[in-house]
Amino acid sequence: MTNITDSATARAHSNIAFVKYWGNRDQSLRLPANASVSMNLADLHTTTTVAWNNELRADRLTINGAVANETARTRVARHLDVLRARLDTDRFARVNSRNNFPMGTGIASSASAFAALTTAACAALNAAISKRELSILSRLGSGSAARSIPSGFVEWRDGESHETSYAESFAPADHWKLVDLIAIVSREHKRIGSSAGHETAASSIFQPARVATAAERISSVKSAILRRDFESFAETVEADSNLMHAVMMTSKPPLFYWAPLSLTIMEGVRRWRQDENLMVCYTLDAGPNVHCICADGDADAVAARLRDLCGEIEILRSDAGGGAYVLPTD
Ligand code: PMV
Repeated sequence: MTNITDSATARAHSNIAFVKYWGNRDQSLRLPANASVSMNLADLHTTTTVAWNNELRADRLTINGAVANETARTRVARHLDVLRARLDTDRFARVNSRNNFPMGTGIASSASAFAALTTAACAALNAAISKRELSILSRLGSGSAARSIPSGFVEWRDGESHETSYAESFAPADHWKLVDLIAIVSREHKRIGSSAGHETAASSIFQPARVATAAERISSVKSAILRRDFESFAETVEADSNLMHAVMMTSKPPLFYWAPLSLTIMEGVRRWRQDENLMVCYTLDAGPNVHCICADGDADAVAARLRDLCGEIEILRSDAGGGAYVLPTD
């Protein structure tokens, strides 16, 4: 058999949600309980090469240079099954993926991972797939990956169906100079990842209230971003993160992602905003790390205060970033 390989490399950025996605209406299609809004993170990305090869007998996966465990390989192989059907190929693929940020710490590595994987897999076969469809396909790998396809500030519509649940940009990355300072409270792998977490959301009595009011927060956060109104932005972003964690903590089983240090930082952030007029607010995903979203002029002052408060804490810093793209071949 002649060896036929078609490959491409793509990069996608992680994103941080300002109005969170938590819980699915349809688990297998990852149709979200509510729409969400996020910002792509320029400095946190995944770069993935997909090589479709007719001689492989199974999909292969390396992450950061090491052969991935079976759980990760199976999840990627399932997503490749979806892409094989869409791209009309029966070839398996060799997938090499690299993150420039730590995995499993509540920083969404699955978002950038599935957006990069989908983009590279389609580009390798020169398939003419629209950004909208790339977002839809990425969503099937990890919900938040839908938001890593378009650039800058993004809304993922809940949609009525598989075809109508995708993300679109509503402002470019340079519209508002926001910086995400991620205070790394712990690098440990989270015990319950977000995929399992989504399944517990409906067991909280607070989830219906969170979902019913999400549209208000979507419109308020989008309008604050478009007007560059930090005060209004901060209020909604913190309220939305608190609401999601209230749902998590009251689910069966309860999920507590905050660590004592997370709470110390959240209190610090509110104090710095209220008493010192620093433009900063917090938001946390399914992990203990605190995303401190700041106006770029205040980012150095916020980083200094984080160090005063926590001592030797690791801080990742990112500006707003663009969408997923295919890298030129050398
Ligand atoms: O895409 P997932 O299944 O990893 O879910 C992401 C969930 C949160 O990060 C907690 C919220 C969000 O909207 O990103």
